[in-house]
Amino acid sequence: MGEFDAAAYGRTIADIYDEMVGHVPTGPAVERVFRLAQGGPVLEFGIGTGRLALPLAARGLTVAGVDGSPDMVAILRGKPGGDRIPVTVGDFSEVNVEGRFALVLLAFNTVFALPSQDAQVRCFRNAAAHLRPGGRFVIETWVPDPAAFRDRTALRLLSLGEDEVVVEAARLSPAEQFMHTTKLRMTTDGLRLLPANHRYAWPCELDLMARLAGMEREHRWADWSCAPFTDDSRAHVSVYRLLES
Ligand SMILES: C[S@@+](CC[C@H](N)C(=O)[O-])C[C@H]1O[C@@H](n2cnc3c(N)ncnc32)[C@H](O)[C@@H]1O
Repeated sequence: MGEFDAAAYGRTIADIYDEMVGHVPTGPAVERVFRLAQGGPVLEFGIGTGRLALPLAARGLTVAGVDGSPDMVAILRGKPGGDRIPVTVGDFSEVNVEGRFALVLLAFNTVFALPSQDAQVRCFRNAAAHLRPGGRFVIETWVPDPAAFRDRTALRLLSLGEDEVVVEAARLSPAEQFMHTTKLRMTTDGLRLLPANHRYAWPCELDLMARLAGMEREHRWADWSCAPFTDDSRAHVSVYRLLES
């Protein structure tokens, strides 16, 4: 694997990102983060095109962001209110942003975009370093499911329409806890290849990273509506609190 490039994801997807994720509702996430922030301010790691940050700001919260992709940030900047959200371009596992926040958000599986356990541990420490005492680090991500793979590969149909079909090809490396994926988006304009790599971790490994960073778990839900997290849950929203020292 080459050196990690936090701008790579956005280079391939930024112009169609909002179209690709438009079917995912944002209301429950915005409502939950708004409540957990208790008045803010909020810092979003991997703010992207502002899918969550803009509606949070519209609710009256002060929101800042970090993103590694100038392409994604350019899309955010072009939206109404996007120029009022300060964004630091850099790697959220190490970049420093001025201020201390009530809540740091890392949504939409983005913690797994970090390429190694070391980088993820650094990310938890960096989140803690940006929190006020008692502040919250909120993560939304999927639960690894190696059983969904045969011979360590999988091909999934993600969406099917008359004008668009999206398929995902994935390869698992269990020894490294790594999943390479490429989405194939076929439209009347042609074919787009959208690669993304994921260094995945089980929920309890994330809990341990939080402890190493001086945080403890306050909640774990199966989704933003606070459904109970169970044996069958395929995703989780986990809330960690910075311990008061
Ligand atoms: C899946 S998108 C999520 C965007 C937004 N949070 C949302 O919910 O729509 C992941 C974002 O994280 C950014 N990103 C990934 N790894 C990063 C890193 N190590 N440092 C900074 N940004 C990163 C990508 O550029 C992209 O904008």
